[in-house]
Amino acid sequence: MPVIRHRSPYETLTDRLRTAGCVYAEDEARLMIDAAPTAEALEAMAARRVAGLPLEHILGWAEFCGLRIAVASGVFVPRRRTEFLVRQAAALLDAWRKVPGAGRAAPVVVDLCCGSGAVGAALAALAGSAELHSAIELYCADIDPKAVACARTNVLPLGGEVHEGDLYAPLPPGLQGRVRLLAVNAPYVPSADIETMPQEARVHEPRACLDGGADGLDVQRRVAAGAREWLMPGGHVLIETSRRQAAQTAGIFRRHGLAARVLHSEELGATVVAGALVPAGGQ
Ligand SMILES: C[S@@+](CC[C@H](N)C(=O)[O-])C[C@H]1O[C@@H](n2cnc3c(N)ncnc32)[C@H](O)[C@@H]1O
Repeated sequence: MPVIRHRSPYETLTDRLRTAGCVYAEDEARLMIDAAPTAEALEAMAARRVAGLPLEHILGWAEFCGLRIAVASGVFVPRRRTEFLVRQAAALLDAWRKVPGAGRAAPVVVDLCCGSGAVGAALAALAGSAELHSAIELYCADIDPKAVACARTNVLPLGGEVHEGDLYAPLPPGLQGRVRLLAVNAPYVPSADIETMPQEARVHEPRACLDGGADGLDVQRRVAAGAREWLMPGGHVLIETSRRQAAQTAGIFRRHGLAARVLHSEELGATVVAGALVPAGGQ
């Protein structure tokens, strides 16, 4: 007699997700099964995923630097490559802590264009760890009210503040000249390239999260133009960019009087440009 083997819900869901083009179908099926309280809820999640919604918007969170970052629908999903920006920020903050005379006050860190607040939250979570030995004073800002609400969920419990508005405009004015580190992942996709992005980003993330204007660098230019006003002498701005745009991003920093370096991670396929406000008389 033939043995009829019933497929488990996990196997059925994995096949369905794979057919819909989900590359990590096994992992996604497991995450959805763990998250769904009922069979009906699981079916609703599966249907949304098959229709092309980002997994993170369905689950309500994204994994970033080992944290579960809340991500509401319509808010940019933090990318794995942006962990490189966090690592570089933590390394700079730690190096600064060891400089004689750096002072004992917690360094002021600003996560500009913060989206869900993933970068700031990761830095705040690292504070006091082996990677980042000091506490930080954290401020985040974004222009999108949905992003700001989401960032508040992630950042307020870690002791940071989140402000709503255009770039530097909503930051407390008392931070001018006091910022040790500006960590920025602003939109940097050239407008014409948006059409070539995967549906998850193109359709389900707001265009303002992605679109950096004709050459992708419009927001970066504005960030660089304002950086000197907010950085303390010796402070840094770190900005994520693409490998292709890195030389231009570095050029923009230099035109605004910042000493620029391009940093790249092969592992994460990530590029960051670091700009330093060199103290008067420094190199
Ligand atoms: C690429 S997303 C990055 C979000 C977050 N930093 C991350 O890495 O997950 C860019 C973010 O910049 C915000 N943004 C775009 N233009 C802005 C502006 N003029 N002022 C403040 N935020 C802006 C968008 O709302 C979006 O949340």
